[in-house]
Amino acid sequence: MRIGIAGLGTVGGGTVRLLQGKADLLAARAGRRVEVVAASARDPGRERGLDLGGVRFERDALALAAAPDIDAVVELIGGAGGVALDLVRAALESGKAVVTANKAMLALHGGGLALLAERQGVPLLFEAAVAGGIPIVKSLREGLAANRVRRVYGILNGTCNYILTQMRETGRDFAEVLAEAQGLGYAEADPSTDVDGIDAAHKLALLAAIAFGGLPSFEGIHVEGIRRVSAQDIAYADALGYRIKLLGVARRTEAGVEQRLHPCMVRKDAAIAQVEGVFNGIVVEGDEAGEVVHEGRGAGAGPTASAVVADLIDIARGRWGPVFGVPAAGLEPLRPSPLQDHAGRHYVRLMVQDRPGVLAEIAAAFRDHDVSIESLLQQGRDPGRTVAIVLITHEAAERAMRGALAQIGRLEAVEEPPCMIRIEAL
Ligand SMILES: NC(=O)c1ccc[n+]([C@@H]2O[C@H](COP(=O)([O-])OP(=O)(O)OC[C@H]3O[C@@H](n4cnc5c(N)ncnc54)[C@H](OP(=O)(O)O)[C@@H]3O)[C@@H](O)[C@H]2O)c1
Repeated sequence: MRIGIAGLGTVGGGTVRLLQGKADLLAARAGRRVEVVAASARDPGRERGLDLGGVRFERDALALAAAPDIDAVVELIGGAGGVALDLVRAALESGKAVVTANKAMLALHGGGLALLAERQGVPLLFEAAVAGGIPIVKSLREGLAANRVRRVYGILNGTCNYILTQMRETGRDFAEVLAEAQGLGYAEADPSTDVDGIDAAHKLALLAAIAFGGLPSFEGIHVEGIRRVSAQDIAYADALGYRIKLLGVARRTEAGVEQRLHPCMVRKDAAIAQVEGVFNGIVVEGDEAGEVVHEGRGAGAGPTASAVVADLIDIARGRWGPVFGVPAAGLEPLRPSPLQDHAGRHYVRLMVQDRPGVLAEIAAAFRDHDVSIESLLQQGRDPGRTVAIVLITHEAAERAMRGALAQIGRLEAVEEPPCMIRIEAL
């Protein structure tokens, strides 16, 4: 099988190295040799530490789609639109198989691309787009195909998980740990796609599409990143028996599919709480298989190339089907279930003046919105100064919580906007 690779960066370079370094093993597993015949990148002169002798260099990535000597195009450029999208469309239109690691493109254009691929009768595979080296796409689409999925949730961004883990272990605040992560190369110079939750939400859109039988609907996801998580909340979470994780959660409800990506408190002894540092973890709750836990490396040359090459082997063997598990022509975008209707327990931290009557005003606001309090913690007394009040609510609807917190935020004695973190029932 002759392939053309567009993009020779972290993933593209790793893929070339893997295909060359394990050529015989992969040929045995694929049933034929998988050979890179052409490649494209932005800068033809860049030293990449790759052996590209015998590999044709195309200045224009789109030439890979048209080349008659290429069977499969591997798109590893990135970006939701632009050259990556043009290339994938052109390759599918000319009847070539496509492998991509591009979650941004699939989260936004996956429905149209799946329709095109299936109309053309060619594979479009994307294992590397979700959680790098963890074969979660295959697991959901194939291994768990007999299940109705109740919920799928996970840690889908290693950078955020690294930052949260470091914050907990060292007691330092977000900004300091982010700066260190940038220095170590774990976070980008512009970290917003990671820390604001966009990257993880792209992956959640793809997982939800496969798990719940719909086209990806990124717009339907409620997204909150980790910038507002403080060292103080991490310490309180620890004292209360929880860890704070940035979770993507997709869950079937009566109204549709709830998709949300935000910091969550999870019980310390839950499997997902043990996923630390740069690792990713995904838990699928199936009605037949029960809870299935996946953990591994979500990024980096080796893990991501491992997933790209697994897709190439499947194509070589003819093992592929509809892009999201069922034919795209019969699918609608997932119907969003409003977050306002979500019910759960909540952690709330309030910074208040320590004076008589404040607690009664806070309790009244919760009562007015029908939210009952499960436990309350006020550490130390400091009359006239600012102190933290931390409480956990019983199960309450998002709508009620927002109403109560808006009322509390207006109280004179409350000195900062209330901090609220949802507790995920696991
Ligand atoms: N890095 C990871 O761990 C990881 C994990 C999972 C998924 N992904 C996904 O994999 C994809 C690639 O990520 P990456 O980290 O490998 O990116 P990267 O290191 O920045 O590499 C991007 C490559 O694309 C090339 N490129 C840019 N514009 C191009 C154009 N117009 N025509 C042809 N080539 C062009 C670049 O060329 P030059 O080298 O000449 O600049 C570079 O080789 C993205 O979709 C990303 O989301 C990455």
